[in-house]
Amino acid sequence: MKIWEDEKQCYIRAAMERNTPEENEILKKNLEETDWSVLENIGRKDAVSDRGVFAPLEAVELAEIRARSAEFKELGLKAIREGRVGAVLLAGGQGTRLGLDRPKGTLNIGVEKELFLFEQLVRNLMDVTGEAGAYIPLFVMTSRINHQDTVDFFAEHSWFGYPQDHIRFFTQEMAPACDYEGRVYMASPTEAAMSPNGNGGWFGSMIRAGLLEDLHARGTEWLNVFAVDNCLQRIADPVFIGATIAYGRESGAKVVRKAAPDEKIGVLCTEDGRPSIVEYYEMTEEMVTARKEDGSLKYGFGVILNYLFSEKKLEEIADRQLPVHVVEKKIPYLDTDGTMVKPDAPNGCKFEALVLDMVHMMDGCVPYEVEREREFAPIKNLHGIDSLDSARELMRGCGIEF
Ligand code: UTP
Repeated sequence: MKIWEDEKQCYIRAAMERNTPEENEILKKNLEETDWSVLENIGRKDAVSDRGVFAPLEAVELAEIRARSAEFKELGLKAIREGRVGAVLLAGGQGTRLGLDRPKGTLNIGVEKELFLFEQLVRNLMDVTGEAGAYIPLFVMTSRINHQDTVDFFAEHSWFGYPQDHIRFFTQEMAPACDYEGRVYMASPTEAAMSPNGNGGWFGSMIRAGLLEDLHARGTEWLNVFAVDNCLQRIADPVFIGATIAYGRESGAKVVRKAAPDEKIGVLCTEDGRPSIVEYYEMTEEMVTARKEDGSLKYGFGVILNYLFSEKKLEEIADRQLPVHVVEKKIPYLDTDGTMVKPDAPNGCKFEALVLDMVHMMDGCVPYEVEREREFAPIKNLHGIDSLDSARELMRGCGIEF
C-alpha cells in the first residue's frame, strides 16, 4: 500500500485533496522516494528498550592523565603529524530548543565582540594544529536543511582562518516526522515533514559522500567526532588520542565526573561485557547510588559527545543497523485545513540514530576523564541549564575573551 492510500494519513490525504494534479505528481514522487520503515517504531516509547546486563567500567581519571600526560601527548601529536587523525563536526541538528532558524554554529556567543560557535570551535582545533605544526582534516556534517547556510557561513568568514582545502562538508540523511499516532506531517503541499535522522549515521553519510577515498589517501586511522554546541570542546586533543592509543582500544570517549548521582547524563559502562552508554532514565536506583570502596560512584562518568573511533573499525561496522530512537520534538506542519502551524511545545516524533550507540559496537573504549569546567559547556537552550548563559559563564572561567 502506498502511504497516501492509508486512511490514517490525514495530513497527506488532506494535502492531496487541495493540491493541483501537477502538485500531486511531485508529492507522490517525493513520497515514493521516502523510507517509511522508521514509522514502525512509533508507539514504543523508546525503541531501544531491550538492554543487556550493565556493569561499571573504570575510567582513566585525571590523576593518571596528569601523571602520564607527556607520554600520551607525544603519542597523540605523532599521530596528528603523521596525518593519522581526522576531526568530524556533527552539525546536522536543528537546534530546536534554541529556536534558531539557521545552523546552530552560526550562533553569536560573544558579548563584547562577535564570536560565532563555529569560529570558537575552529579556534579550539587550531590550538592543536598550532602545537602539532600540522593541519587536521575537518569534516563537517550538515543536513539538507542547513547545508547551504553552513557552507556559505564558513565561506563568508574565510573558513575562520583554517585552510579551506582541509575542510570537507557532507550531508546526512533525513527521516520522516509524524504526530504521536504515526500520522506523517506535511511541510508543504508537495513535501512530507522530514528531519535529520540523528547524529548516528555520520560515518555512513561520509561513505555515501565519497569521503572514504579521502580518508584512505590521507592514511586516517582515527576520527574524533564531536558536537557543534559545546564551545569549550577540545578537538583532536593529543593527550586523549595518545591515551586511547596507549590503552590499545578501538575507541575513546571523553567523560566528566557526575555532578550528582542522579545527574541527567548518559553514563559510560559495559553492557554484556562490551562498552556501552546507559541513559540516565534507564538506570535503576541501585545503579544510580552504587559506590566503590573509596566512596566514588560506580557509574560515575557521563559522556559529553566527544568520541575517538578507529577508522578501520568504523568501516567494519558500517553496514550494521543502529537502533532507532523516537525523539519528541516541535515539528512545524501544514494542518489538514491548509494552515501552517508552528508549535510552541513538542507535538510529535522524529526518528534518530545516535552516535552513542556506536560505542557498543566497539570491542573496547577508554573512558577518558576531563574537567567539566574546562571542556564541557553545551548550549542547548538560551537560558538555564546547558544554555548560552551557562556557557558564557564557563567561558569566562576559562579566561576566553568574547
Ligand atoms: P542534539 O541532540 O542536541 O540535537 O544534537 P539538536 O538538533 O542540535 O538540538 P535540539 O535537540 O533540536 O534542540 C547533538 C549534536 O548532534 C548533532 C547536533 O548538530 C549536535 O552537534 N546532530 C543532531 C546532527 O548532526 N544530526 C542530527 O540529526 C541530530
